[in-house]
Amino acid sequence: GKVAVLMGGTSAEREVSLKSGRAILNALLNQGIDAIGIDTGTGNLLEKLTETIIDRVFIALHGRGGEDGTIQGFLDRLGIPYTGSGVLGSALAMDKYRTKLVWQGADLPTPPYVLLTEKTDLSAVAERLGFPLMVKPASEGSSVGMSKVTSVVEMQQAWQLARQFDQVVIAEKYISGVEYTASIVQNQALPLIRLETPRVFYDYEAKYSDNTQTRYICPSGLAPDQEQALQQLALQAFQIIGATGWGRVDLMCDATGKAWLLEVNTVPGMTDHSLVPMAANAVGIDFEHLVLQILAST
Ligand code: DAL
Ligand code: MG
Repeated sequence: GKVAVLMGGTSAEREVSLKSGRAILNALLNQGIDAIGIDTGTGNLLEKLTETIIDRVFIALHGRGGEDGTIQGFLDRLGIPYTGSGVLGSALAMDKYRTKLVWQGADLPTPPYVLLTEKTDLSAVAERLGFPLMVKPASEGSSVGMSKVTSVVEMQQAWQLARQFDQVVIAEKYISGVEYTASIVQNQALPLIRLETPRVFYDYEAKYSDNTQTRYICPSGLAPDQEQALQQLALQAFQIIGATGWGRVDLMCDATGKAWLLEVNTVPGMTDHSLVPMAANAVGIDFEHLVLQILAST
């Protein structure tokens, strides 16, 4: 039967999603699978999903309105199976604040943080967390609205920026060390990727622009037992928030080698620049087969 690739949408990550969606759609068509692309950012989605018989959906939507459980719930009610996490895992992963609450409850390591509101004394937060620190809208992806700050003045500006994207904003201790990402496909962790960027942090530019000299190192260079420990941690962090199927867990390792969980992406990027395809490649799974594997777990 027909596979619909949902892409685009209306979030701040619309452009990234269109790239992911087109790459996925091409991979499916190249393998002779009857597939169509649907942009969920325009028109009536219910009509688009019901005017032809659709057997399965590949969700290639990033950010709110697509990665956050709302589309997942809609498809549940329509009785159409889809890739990746269900309502709960999607909704939790979209919210970095509540993800951290769950991890803390499960004794999983995540950097110390404070919720920022109108009433927050930023100096007190800075004293508690230390500089540099990250200011993040709780429910954005691709580092949109996110800043790394080194003073209370910058923190104030960063908060103003972040709250344009979300009511919920957190300040999080910046773990200085090395960033890794663990890709998960068919509920198993692929080899870690180490990220090195000359930029202040791994921001939107570093993620999507060709000329930032960001380096992606896979295999990660970690000792096998440490690699395995991080994969295990990532898988646990993924499962405890109810995420299933495929996704990506981002984390930092500090100078002592201790790991700190940052976030879960339940619909990670699938562009030619993206990390899950790179990790899959390291174990001999090409892009087309990766897409099939993800689709197989609907
Ligand atoms: N939010 C982007 C798409 C990612 O995690 O890859
Ligand atoms: Mg994210």
